[in-house]
Amino acid sequence: MAEEKIVLGIESTAHTLGFGIVSTTGKILANVNYVYKPKEGGIHPREAAQHHSMHAARGVMEALRRAGISPERIDGVAFSAGPGMGPCLRVGATLARALALKLNKPLLAVNHGVAHIEIGRLVTGARDPVVLYIAGGNTLITAYLDGRYRIFGETLDIAAGNCLDAFGIEAGIGPMPNPEVKAREGRKIHPLPYRVKGMDVSFSGLLTAALKLLKKGIRIEDVCLSITETVYSMLTETLERALAFTEKKEILLVGGLARSIRLRQMIEAMAKLHDAKVYVVPPEYAGDNGAMIAWTGALQLLSGLVIRVEESVVKPKFRIDEVEVKWRNLNGSK
Ligand code: FE2
Repeated sequence: MAEEKIVLGIESTAHTLGFGIVSTTGKILANVNYVYKPKEGGIHPREAAQHHSMHAARGVMEALRRAGISPERIDGVAFSAGPGMGPCLRVGATLARALALKLNKPLLAVNHGVAHIEIGRLVTGARDPVVLYIAGGNTLITAYLDGRYRIFGETLDIAAGNCLDAFGIEAGIGPMPNPEVKAREGRKIHPLPYRVKGMDVSFSGLLTAALKLLKKGIRIEDVCLSITETVYSMLTETLERALAFTEKKEILLVGGLARSIRLRQMIEAMAKLHDAKVYVVPPEYAGDNGAMIAWTGALQLLSGLVIRVEESVVKPKFRIDEVEVKWRNLNGSK
């Protein structure tokens, strides 16, 4: 068996600056995350980048302390190369380059979406799932096929998480999980635009329509119930289609919105009909985190997917199907 190596991973695509230290055998030694919270509204990229710069040095030291290792024990430095906000991505990339040069260790450019999937597989034990990756900035239905995570469905406009967060903020109750919590007191579902095209979804019309219902004076609890039920039904329907198409027997939910209790209920009911098993990433690894970047970096290190500092550009629009997922056929089990 190959010698165990240790990878430091840095996450900085949006609001979270994260540091993870993970071994190539899948031991998570540290997962330290700092989350930027805007005073109002959505994320301001430059402010978030400033937050990340401020916590950068402290974060590396804290992760090393928690892992109980010295910097010399690090065998590779991974960073989130995208997708994400340019100014935020550049903070993580700059830090990773500097550390890789200083320690004279390989640099690993990780796709943020692939990292959500891989940490989900590691901590839940799912082997070959259809993945629903749902978060503030992403809505994707994907599965591994012929060396890559193929995109079966995605949002044509805003992400599911973004739709519910924006609704909550506009309605004055705050982002998720607040709309879902309020929905529990809802009694009536009002019809809202339900836009599913094949395995793709669209949420922006739905958001506008839900806000209109509020303006008309419909009870906020009922609007929350209407919008959450509609968003979750759309996701469940498209996921079911992808499950039938790929003939896989596992479903994995990853990303911040995987914390939703109601969405999980709906997906579990659907999975039952297909004899499929549902895995949900635990809350600690659902949102953006450093451990997911470190673990995916470790998989890349094992498969020789390292890059030179000169070619380590950030890619704000990095798609998961651009990544060659070499590690999935390393020994047939990973
Ligand atoms: Fe994310």
